[in-house]
Amino acid sequence: MLRLLLICGVSLTQALDNGLALTPPMGWLTWQRYRCLTDCTTYPDECISEKLIKRTADMLVDEGYLEAGYDYIGIDDCWMEKNRSASGKLVPDRERFPSGMKMLGKYVHSKGLKFGIYQDYGTKTCAGYPGVMGHEQTDVDTLVSWGVDYIKLDGCYSKPEEMKTGYPDFGRMLNKTGRPVLYSCSWPAYLEPDSILPNYTVIAENCNLWRNWDDIEDSWQSLLGIMNWFGDNQERLAPFAGPGHWNDPDMLLVGNYGLSLDQARVQMAVWAVLAAPLLISADLARMRPEFKEILLNRDIIAVNQDPLGKQGLRVYNDSKHHRQIWTRKLSDNSYAVAFVSTRVDGVPYAVSFSHGDMKIPAQNYRVQDLYNEEEDRKLGADETFTTRINPTGVKFFKFIPVGQSEEDFKDPEEHTLKNVNFNTDNDLDKTVVVV
Ligand SMILES: *[C@@H]1O[C@H](CO)[C@@H](O)[C@H](O)[C@H]1NC(C)=O
Ligand SMILES: *[C@@H]1O[C@H](CO)[C@@H](O)[C@H](O)[C@H]1NC(C)=O
Ligand SMILES: *[C@@H]1O[C@H](CO)[C@@H](O)[C@H](O)[C@H]1NC(C)=O
Ligand SMILES: *[C@@H]1O[C@H](CO)[C@@H](O)[C@H](O)[C@H]1NC(C)=O
Repeated sequence: MLRLLLICGVSLTQALDNGLALTPPMGWLTWQRYRCLTDCTTYPDECISEKLIKRTADMLVDEGYLEAGYDYIGIDDCWMEKNRSASGKLVPDRERFPSGMKMLGKYVHSKGLKFGIYQDYGTKTCAGYPGVMGHEQTDVDTLVSWGVDYIKLDGCYSKPEEMKTGYPDFGRMLNKTGRPVLYSCSWPAYLEPDSILPNYTVIAENCNLWRNWDDIEDSWQSLLGIMNWFGDNQERLAPFAGPGHWNDPDMLLVGNYGLSLDQARVQMAVWAVLAAPLLISADLARMRPEFKEILLNRDIIAVNQDPLGKQGLRVYNDSKHHRQIWTRKLSDNSYAVAFVSTRVDGVPYAVSFSHGDMKIPAQNYRVQDLYNEEEDRKLGADETFTTRINPTGVKFFKFIPVGQSEEDFKDPEEHTLKNVNFNTDNDLDKTVVVV
């Protein structure tokens, strides 16, 4: 009975209401790949510059990324002059952004893309450029006058007490401009590592997304560390994700140097289950076709963008055998299930799982391989599911309920209640009350 009540639970009632990020934002951001490259002599094609942004904007459109949903293009740190102007305004680097940000914003918009930029709620940005503190209103006005659609507000050189008022105040100033600006707060990422538990109720009321944890680096080790942290802390994070407000495990590494093809598929699958923002940070001009195929996988993007907006969970974590299962419930009453192997030995062993292991109701399914390697197959209510997972790899399937006849599945709600196996502690259907 208790479980039945939980299924009908209440969800987050107060959230930032700017009409944006109803599904996790998708786009491209400079940081992971380009960091703070400012030397355009040594790195002419890679330095943070209007040339890089325009070139990438062109490719987002020409290469099909925009069409697949990647509609934001963002500049992270290192775009400014080291000093503000005489009147206290932020000034883009004069050599690297000779046309100015307003013109760059226009260019980005002319391509049908949206314009993202970085600032920091502190005395300085992480890389030492002028921070927002003491200039809040000026900076909001300046950024909005450039046509900015997305602001990532970092948290270097700021104290927890200052962030507590600073992030909400900055958001209110953005709201008052009347321009809907997607607001990404790095706020909790500066609390969690110091074991200060963020109040995610307040953060979700004020921000569209928020970085919770460490910066991602271009390696499997970093990716796995982030996956483990999000899995280990999911009980207190997942309830706060939903339309308009998302946890952010950081940028996609797909297309860079550090991940194998299998490992890149792991990230895309787990980010889809986590309802994570999909922010590419790679050189689109050097994107290998097999990585591009991962980024443009329509079925996986559809999982990430599912309108229900329910963050999935790591429902199975067998450290001994290096196996994890990540499951997300979708709006059409199906389940996206990622089977991850963190083994580093060479055999893609065959492994079997029950419905209970996957935390999906014990019923019949049609099983669709989202990476399109296997034919669709059927899974009966009393059968186990067997698959082979490559070392440091993933198999990612959609489990679509099917009945003896289609009639059995007309009413998704009734269907769920009728078929949920109440012995499997189905956390995926439990909605935690957050007010
Ligand atoms: C500002 O906030 C109000 C109240 O939450 C909301 O209705 C409005 O859409 C917001 N406007 C912008 C531009 O974000
Ligand atoms: C920035 O301003 C400081 C004084 O506020 C000055 O000492 C410094 O030389 C200026 N730097 C540049 C690059 O103009
Ligand atoms: C978080 O903030 C909300 C709203 O201000 C408050 O009601 C709640 O008690 C806070 N939670 C914790 C754990 O401090
Ligand atoms: C899950 O497994 C990883 C290693 O694969 C381990 O580091 C972590 O502690 C496990 N978490 C829980 C909650 O068991």
